[in-house]
Amino acid sequence: MTLVLTIESTCDETAAAVINDRLEVLGAVVASQEKFHERFGGVVPEIASRAHVERILPVIDSTLAKAGVTLADLDAIAVANRPGLAGSLLVGLMAAKTLALALDLPLIGIDHLQAHIYACRLAAGHDVFPCIGLIVSGGHSNIYRCETPLDFTPLGGTIDDAAGEAFDKVASMLGLGFPGGPALQRAAEKGDPRKFRLPRPLLDDDSRLEFSFSGLKTAVRYQLFGAGRPTMDAETLDPQLVADMAASFQAAVIDCLAGKAMLALDKTGFKRLCIGGGVAANRPFRERMEQLAAARKIELHIPPLSLCTDNAVMGAIALEKFNAGKFETLELEISAGLER
Ligand code: KG4
Ligand code: ZN
Repeated sequence: MTLVLTIESTCDETAAAVINDRLEVLGAVVASQEKFHERFGGVVPEIASRAHVERILPVIDSTLAKAGVTLADLDAIAVANRPGLAGSLLVGLMAAKTLALALDLPLIGIDHLQAHIYACRLAAGHDVFPCIGLIVSGGHSNIYRCETPLDFTPLGGTIDDAAGEAFDKVASMLGLGFPGGPALQRAAEKGDPRKFRLPRPLLDDDSRLEFSFSGLKTAVRYQLFGAGRPTMDAETLDPQLVADMAASFQAAVIDCLAGKAMLALDKTGFKRLCIGGGVAANRPFRERMEQLAAARKIELHIPPLSLCTDNAVMGAIALEKFNAGKFETLELEISAGLER
């Protein structure tokens, strides 16, 4: 039986997993850094990379212990080497290269975005390709035509902020803390999504499979604090107004994501949609997608919450590369951006 150790450190979670070739997870650990970044209202790259340095070896140790295996039992080392924060990616890559060299094991590079979609394959328990892949996370909002787990063609994406980034920034404006997505979802439960009229940028333009969330964010700011006000003080906001704005903003983002996902299906004729990334954990978004999929007879896959946000279990995609003999040399580098 093949056993792969997968390592994930692309942003602010340090994670590892041991997975076998039947895609069974023997052990997995995620160490979150939320408490370090909370007071800054967003991920601070320098803090993230330092925290990865401190955690990576303990996380790998406890993953092996949970899985009941030792380093000697492993057949390959896999690491998410793109895309992400450069300093964060480097820590995972160095750990992986060191293990591969010391243990004389093959090294496998994981594309973090392909891994987010592969989480759907894991959750489904059967093949989900070809499909349209929608990745909605803190760093990315992209739509792909996914022929196989390892063959993605970009169809579109955000032209400015990612959906999760917009959630985090608006949550911070509303004084809701970090990470903003879950906090904003909770606040929205008590709010009226029709209270504020917010734009749905690019939604009416059927020629573009693109998102734009930066104008939406600015619209929220103007409606809360007025145009041109240099200082914003969330503490002065009425709790009901916060709830109404959270609900109105969330509804606008969901409309945009759902609309463009459906447009991608229409344009390609695909009947299967796989969604991954932290924002896919958003309950009203999941519910909307389920309704749309049922109405249009689309096969929809959204992983359980723990597989939406960053984790190393979705690194099981490394087994696809192992089986195809796609290995890297110790020259493997990080790639922080989307270009390949
Ligand atoms: O995939 P992920 O863990 O990390 C990246 O690869 O970026 O996504 C993190 C993002 C954050 O922006 C967070 O606010 C958002 O996912 N998020 C949510 C929810 N849970 C996490 N956004 C909306 N609703 C949620 N329930
Ligand atoms: Zn991610």
